[in-house]
Amino acid sequence: MDSWEWNKIAGAILGTLIFVLVIRIASESLFEVEKPAKEGYKVEGVVETTTAGNTSTAPAEETVPDMGTVLAKADVASGQKVATRCAQCHDWSKGGPNKIGPNLYGVVGRPRATHDAFSYSSAMMSDHAPWTFEALFKYLKAPAAMVPGTKMSFAGLKSVQDRLDLLAYMRSWADSPAALPAPTGK
Ligand code: HEC
Repeated sequence: MDSWEWNKIAGAILGTLIFVLVIRIASESLFEVEKPAKEGYKVEGVVETTTAGNTSTAPAEETVPDMGTVLAKADVASGQKVATRCAQCHDWSKGGPNKIGPNLYGVVGRPRATHDAFSYSSAMMSDHAPWTFEALFKYLKAPAAMVPGTKMSFAGLKSVQDRLDLLAYMRSWADSPAALPAPTGK
C-alpha cells in the first residue's frame, strides 16, 4: 500500500468520527426538553386590568361599590340596552316563560336557583342565598368565576357602569322594586 492508500483510509476514519459526532450533537439537542416561556394558562373572561405601576400578576378582587349611592345614580335606559344581551336566553316579563335560562321577573332578592320548573345546574343549586345587588354585580362580571360549573354560558360584563345600569333596570322587574341599600357614605 502506498501512502495515497493510507491517506484514503485515514480520511474515511476521520469522516466517520465526524459523522458520529454530528449525529450525537443533533440528537442531544433534539431530545432536550424545552421549558415553556410562561407557565400556567389563561382563563378567558377573567382578565383583570392592572393599574399602571402595579407589578402584581394576581388579579385584584374588584371592590364592590357602595350600592346605595351608585345605584341611585345609575342609568336605567342604558341598562335596558345592556339587557338586550340577556334576552336571547332570559325572559323577564311577569309570568313569562323560562327560555335557555330561567325567567328573571323578581330576581333581585329572590333566593338563588328557585324559579319554578327550571332545571338549574347543580353548581347553581349548591347555594340558595338571595340574589342581592352585590351578588348579582359579582355574578354578572364573570358568571363562571362566581359559580364554577354554571350552565349560563355568558362571558360576563366587564364594564362596572354597564353592570350598575343593568342592575338599576333589573330592579324594575318586580311588583315592587327591591329597596336600595342605605348608602354607607364610603
Ligand atoms: C347563553 C344564554 C344566557 C345568557 C346570554 C344569559 N344567561 Fe343568565 N342564565 C342562563 C342559564 C342557562 C342560567 C341557569 C344557570 C345554572 O343553572 O347554572 C342562567 C341563570 C341566571 C341567573 C340566576 C337565576 C336564578 O334563578 O338563580 C341570573 C340572575 C341571570 N342568569 C342573569 C342574566 C343576565 C342579567 C344576563 C345578561 C347580562 C344573562 N343572565 C345572560 C343563560 C344565559
